[in-house]
Amino acid sequence: MSQERSDTLVLFGATGDLAHKKIFPALYAMVAKGTLTEPVIGVAFDAWDVKQLQARARDGIVKATGKVDEKIFAKLASLLRYVSGDYRSAATFEKLKSELGTAQHPLHYLAVPPTMFETVIQGLEQSGAAQGARLMVEKPFGHDLQSARWLNRVLHLVFDEQSIFRIDHYLGKEAIQNLLYFRFANSFLEPIWNRNFVESVQITMAEDFGVEGRGRFYDEVGCIRDVIENHLLNILLLLAMEPPVGRSADDLIDEKVQVLRAIRTLTKDDVVRGQFKGYLSEPGVAPNSPVETFAAVRFFVDTWRWQDVPFFIRAGKSMPVHATEVIVRLKRPPLNVFDPIKPDDANHVRFRIDPQVAISIGAQRKAAGDDMIGEQVELTALDDSKDDMPPYERLIGDAMNGNGQLFTRQDASELAWRIVGPVLGDTRPPPLYEPGTWGPADAMAGFGPPNGWINPAK
Ligand code: BG6
Repeated sequence: MSQERSDTLVLFGATGDLAHKKIFPALYAMVAKGTLTEPVIGVAFDAWDVKQLQARARDGIVKATGKVDEKIFAKLASLLRYVSGDYRSAATFEKLKSELGTAQHPLHYLAVPPTMFETVIQGLEQSGAAQGARLMVEKPFGHDLQSARWLNRVLHLVFDEQSIFRIDHYLGKEAIQNLLYFRFANSFLEPIWNRNFVESVQITMAEDFGVEGRGRFYDEVGCIRDVIENHLLNILLLLAMEPPVGRSADDLIDEKVQVLRAIRTLTKDDVVRGQFKGYLSEPGVAPNSPVETFAAVRFFVDTWRWQDVPFFIRAGKSMPVHATEVIVRLKRPPLNVFDPIKPDDANHVRFRIDPQVAISIGAQRKAAGDDMIGEQVELTALDDSKDDMPPYERLIGDAMNGNGQLFTRQDASELAWRIVGPVLGDTRPPPLYEPGTWGPADAMAGFGPPNGWINPAK
């Protein structure tokens, strides 16, 4: 279908939570910037009319942004259409087809659980609505390697790979874009960005809240499937990849895939799991559920550049702070010319991903005074998040334009499951931790980067 822009956005799951919280606010922002002028057809089971969908959209926008500009909202409302019906019924897709009118290249966005993908895709094909169309699918993309392969087969029966956009919303974050930019638009990092200088890499994603009413969903996935296999592994790839040889989407993704191929398959010894006290009383969570709400994982990337450098990822619910950060810690200087520089005071590069974007470099300087005694400072390269484009805005725009650079390709989706496969579905009860702490302290003792974890500040 080449690079033609999609001429209609079809949103399956239009009355759902994701549409309410993220997608409508993104569409509103796009309308405000003039980057969305095409019709948006919401599809869902609820027997609503378009007025109800508009009201729901407005509510989501107010909750996300605190206010609504009436002129902009009126424009968005005028683009909205609604088709209600069961995804298993051909009549739903007939209605959709007639609502599509003369549209040649719709983008079908499946903001529905993956168990519905096959049904919706069949409906699209049988009604002819898949013709000339693109498909965008939400995470989770499968449950393990086998289900991801099966899903890919289902998708490929109707759509070719160029027309499929698998979302990982982390890749749409400004901070992630910046990480990539900072790495490859500067030359000073390159000489030190390897096993000779880097001691370890650690990525922490801490959330200071629990499962927030999503107990049922969460209890089927757990921390590793929810954020490590996708969001955080993607950050690792951007840190570890070689520079892309060109600017096409595939050039970038090819380099990420090379890293995925080089990451060692995990074993149980590479993981510490935990569960916050109180998780079992969350609505929707199975009694005695063995699902982890915290995990710390050690990865190795078997390439010339990264041999023996440990990459640690740690993520959890009910942590002390809400922050996502990367620390690339360098080896300490070979000799103590001044007072000893403690190993955990060695230089580092810090990428703060959330809630604010920041890039800084940890360095030693002499503290004022008579003695040659040092102190740690951070040189800040970027500390600004005021003009950030929210991920869904960027990703929906990219998918409509057929730009797949920030999406997950088939091979990457399967390789990621290969890596985490052996540590999924552990049925042993995970060690418990107090909410508001950094995970199960006893189980974590001695597990982490050499010279320790650096906990992100608030
Ligand atoms: C989602 C996970 O993909 O990402 C959630 O399902 C998690 O559990 C969320 O809270 C974090 O994303 P963000 O962008 O809100 O930090």
